[in-house]
Amino acid sequence: MTKQRVLSGMRPSGKLHLGNLVGALDNWKQLQEEYECFFFAADWHALTTEYSNPEIVQESIQEMMIDWLSVGLSPGKSVLFVQSQIKEHAELHLLLSMITPLPWLERVPSYKEQQQELGNRDLSTYGFLGYPLLQTADIIIYKAHKVPVGIDQVPHVELSREITRRFNFFYGPVFPPPEPMLTEVPKLLGIDGRKMSKSYDNAIYISDSPPVIRQKVSQMFTDPNRIKRSDPGNPDICNVFAFHRVYSPPAAVDQVDIDCRCARIGCVEDKKNLAENIIAYLAPVHEERARLLKNPRLVREVLEEGCRKARRVASQTMEEVRRAMKIS
Ligand code: TRP
Repeated sequence: MTKQRVLSGMRPSGKLHLGNLVGALDNWKQLQEEYECFFFAADWHALTTEYSNPEIVQESIQEMMIDWLSVGLSPGKSVLFVQSQIKEHAELHLLLSMITPLPWLERVPSYKEQQQELGNRDLSTYGFLGYPLLQTADIIIYKAHKVPVGIDQVPHVELSREITRRFNFFYGPVFPPPEPMLTEVPKLLGIDGRKMSKSYDNAIYISDSPPVIRQKVSQMFTDPNRIKRSDPGNPDICNVFAFHRVYSPPAAVDQVDIDCRCARIGCVEDKKNLAENIIAYLAPVHEERARLLKNPRLVREVLEEGCRKARRVASQTMEEVRRAMKIS
């Protein structure tokens, strides 16, 4: 039985945080065991917003790859590559643009939302409007069946399905329609209680050293109704407890749940324990990270090998596409 193919990408924007780890990488790591996986750094996508500082994008690829490998994405199990090294994505993007009605792109929710959110940059560009079409090319050039993404990306995968249908209608069946793959992920907020994000300066990074982790965890917001040490707390609404569920042993999680509700443990002590559990969890990741930092050649080789494999598949698909579109 041949495995189904999974594909996903991440924009390189520097080092990754625990939100990225539980939100995507932990899941990708699992998927490697069951599917044929393709994971890539979407550096062209990063340029749609970072076009004025392209050097950041390139530096970020290296950092992101070190994080990917150190948390357990494995070149032996998955194809790990860089989007811009596979020029075929660009050719397919161009050809798909011929059959893409503009309103399909204009109505993608992230288009207007992001333009508003990143109001300090000029995003009325051709590239930014085409963002989800480039994403479509990324996905279907590998004929991926499943695309693990966050909920915000589902409209992009839906667009891919519509484009696929339109392409197959005009030129014959070349592409299987891809499906978004949504997995329930624990919600870990930043240390200030907002969404964990580099731009809010509230993230705990995979690469943070133990002292930095202790320091950040000690600042974390807890149940806002628990003001005095003697007040009973409510773990259900406490971000620290959400972290415990991910990083602490199950018995400890149950104990905190009980002790917090009857004020037997205070937030300060509780956070000290949490910090140590996160540190223990990340210890093997940091070890692998140190090894990779000492051998930058290893990372380069992984990417070269991944790009070779990806290119083989992408160029094969493009031959079919050109044939179907009578370009030869
Ligand atoms: N747009 C995705 C994000 O911001 C990244 C991405 C680019 C992607 N191409 C993709 C994800 C293809 C899945 C499939 O997270």
